[in-house]
Amino acid sequence: MATVQEDGAARLIDGAAIARGVRARLADEVAALRAEHGVTPGLSVVLVGDDPASAVYVRNKEKQSVEAGMRGETIRLPATTTQEELLAVVDRLNADDRVHGILVQMPLPKQIDPNAVLRRIRPEKDVDGFHPVNVGKLLIGESDGFAPCTPAGVMVLLEEAGVPLRGAEVVVIGRSNIVGKPMAALMVQAGVDATVTVCHSRTRDLAAHTRRADVLIAAIGRGRFVTADMIKPGAVVIDVGMNRIDDPTTKSGTRLVGDVDFDGAREVAAAITPVPGGVGPMTIAMLLANTVRAARQLAGVR
Ligand code: GUN
Repeated sequence: MATVQEDGAARLIDGAAIARGVRARLADEVAALRAEHGVTPGLSVVLVGDDPASAVYVRNKEKQSVEAGMRGETIRLPATTTQEELLAVVDRLNADDRVHGILVQMPLPKQIDPNAVLRRIRPEKDVDGFHPVNVGKLLIGESDGFAPCTPAGVMVLLEEAGVPLRGAEVVVIGRSNIVGKPMAALMVQAGVDATVTVCHSRTRDLAAHTRRADVLIAAIGRGRFVTADMIKPGAVVIDVGMNRIDDPTTKSGTRLVGDVDFDGAREVAAAITPVPGGVGPMTIAMLLANTVRAARQLAGVR
């Protein structure tokens, strides 16, 4: 099992192990697609500029797609790239039959409008799920679109951890287009059937909402914001946060923490995702899953 029971404390939902399982299944599917249909799923990632965090993400995306037997390429462009130049790269990838998934890494340099770029990607290749066509398909429950990878990964984590969602009270903190809003859309989908509350920076009496949650999903972007007193005893806590804080006791002088105060929360919750090793590894696994499905759909393989 991908969970670990510890004495008296919350069960850990091991995202790293669950993501490994997803990638192993994808590798089998990729091998079969190639053998039976001559299709090798291809993911192209575009990185503009030299943001160090983005460089790490992008390297992992290429590495893991290649390990799953896919075609993975990274197109690196200088920070001075114009919007027209980037759109020309997107157009070329849109037209390339070997490319099934396109991801333009965010954030982009100031001179480029991210919305113009996201709208230029063919929705059929938009494995990030950020194009308005895919946002709309998610909302109306059309299953041939692509859901954003982080909330899609949370759904897989909850399923693998055996967390029941039908009729459950799910509270999402955060309303971003990348996590909070699509998370809510996935949870209310027929067949999932959760009851969802979306909280944000203007929510009155936040703790009154979070304390009702059977499943609490934190995607605020503020380190250790969710404390034990905000959690209902026995709840499942999903921590989407990735915040770097100073920590002189580590070699680098910094440390990654989630949006949840982990040590306090694990005394109250029934199950919790750690940071790192929880939601994070699932995001790339879902990107690969979306790319394999894009390849199937574009090649007309059922
Ligand atoms: N930057 C940080 N996370 C993401 C992501 O999921 N997709 C893209 N395109 N950029 C990101």
